[in-house]
Amino acid sequence: MEFNERLLLINSLVKEINRDLSVDHAIRILVEGGVKLLSADAGAFALVDGDALRCMSQSNIELDGETLCSDLARQIESTTVVSDIREHPGMFEKLSRFRVKSFVCTPVNIMSDRKGVLFLASFEYREFTEPDINSLEIFIDAGVSAIKNSFLFDLISKSHKLWQETFDAISDYVFVVDDDFRIVKCNIAFAKSCGLHPRKIIGKSCFDLQAKLSPKFCIEALYKNRKAYTEEITCDGKVFLVSGFHVTLPSGKNATVHILKDITEMRRLKEQLYHADKLTSLGLLVSGVAHELNNPLTGILGYSELLMMKTEDEVLKKDLDKIYSAAERCKKIVENLLTFSRQSPPERSYIRIDELIDSAIELRSYWLRSNGFQIIRDYHDLPIVSIDPQQIQQVIMNILVNAEYAVLNSGKEERRISLHTHYDKDRDMVVIRISDNGMGLSEETLSRIFDPFFTTKPVNQGSGLGLSISHGIVKEHNGNIWAEGAPGEGATFTIELPVGKDGPPPVLD
Ligand SMILES: Nc1ncnc2c1ncn2[C@@H]1O[C@H](COP(=O)(O)OP(=O)(O)O)[C@@H](O)[C@H]1O
Ligand SMILES: [Mg+2]
Repeated sequence: MEFNERLLLINSLVKEINRDLSVDHAIRILVEGGVKLLSADAGAFALVDGDALRCMSQSNIELDGETLCSDLARQIESTTVVSDIREHPGMFEKLSRFRVKSFVCTPVNIMSDRKGVLFLASFEYREFTEPDINSLEIFIDAGVSAIKNSFLFDLISKSHKLWQETFDAISDYVFVVDDDFRIVKCNIAFAKSCGLHPRKIIGKSCFDLQAKLSPKFCIEALYKNRKAYTEEITCDGKVFLVSGFHVTLPSGKNATVHILKDITEMRRLKEQLYHADKLTSLGLLVSGVAHELNNPLTGILGYSELLMMKTEDEVLKKDLDKIYSAAERCKKIVENLLTFSRQSPPERSYIRIDELIDSAIELRSYWLRSNGFQIIRDYHDLPIVSIDPQQIQQVIMNILVNAEYAVLNSGKEERRISLHTHYDKDRDMVVIRISDNGMGLSEETLSRIFDPFFTTKPVNQGSGLGLSISHGIVKEHNGNIWAEGAPGEGATFTIELPVGKDGPPPVLD
């Protein structure tokens, strides 16, 4: 090949390498171009990868890893030309089975930590001339910067991909807003909360998107743009921990990264823990007092009864009866207190929850019917659960009786209580939901509803113990209980009970 012809070929090969930024393409053209330039029969390119050579491209030959490592790796420091491999017994053994008779092997230094070796082989014995080697070196020099670019591009694409995937894996809402209130970046979780694809959000002004930024806290967060902040925002019935951090964008513009974390569930758990703790210490106190009161009360009941039997005086008898009734009421309260402070673990057996609910309704059915209540049952398939039936029935009863009271006193004509059950497979929990259309719950009631002695009922009608006892029982079962509702909009109580996996449950008949 003439010198000019070689230059033209090198020029077109380098152009071809530059056409595409992918590493594979650049290496393939390097190998194929080398073969053309030397009129060789085959070629291969291997990259130093740690201690080994990794083959990246081969043309018309399939060298194995061992040959690549043991023979070619040694050539990495300088160009080696072998016109007759018979003169190199070690190489002859390995390369002759690939039909190689002559070869050129030359280093390709892409970056300080990325060195490669280009191997060009001939299947006939031949000489490689000085112009051959010179033009090959010119080609490699010219091509290397393009190859270096494709390696850099590959590196950047990979790290960008990793960064993007990490960003999108975050379940908190993350979005970046610049000084002009434009959204520069957002993750999938945030985009989902707006019901839009990130493409439709990025570059848009927050105010154009206002209607779509469904969690309106985003707007609140935006007003704090450019300030580092952390605070809690309640929105759409959820609690979010919102933080913002200042960043400078590559363009030099200022921006704020806003992160919104949904902490509703965490909050609820924390409150339950706090409540459980409060109940435990109160329970200890109450049970001590209740036991102390029991003895004198028994005395009052016994002696007033005895006196009633002894006297013939009717007026005195009436007074004694009042003492007796009052003492009996005290005893009931004491019994309630003892139930409340009960430390005994549940006595479990395998139970069908829907049957348990039905039997609770059954106990109240006469009353419910005669007061015109509509009972809606919405039961879904449930596994049997290991619970203390008496205790759980007591919980359902407490909630049911409260619901009856709330509906009756709401003055509403339609009187409705709904009972819903389902199985939460993911969490292995049985869920019971009891809703009413009664007077509903104020914020104040909601915050204290499970507190012992909290009642909004008139004296003599409420003890304020029903729900705190229920709370204790559900907690003993490792379950959860909570209330939801708003004034005038009825109340909903949800109970979750773990099904548990302590061995296979017995078959019920
Ligand atoms: N379904 C309901 N609707 C409205 N308020 C309720 C409901 N259930 C409970 N409450 C409120 O919670 C309070 C505490 O209930 P509870 O612990 O059972 O005690 P009590 O029934 O003796 O008042 C009630 O006084 C009432 O204010
Ligand atoms: Mg009650």
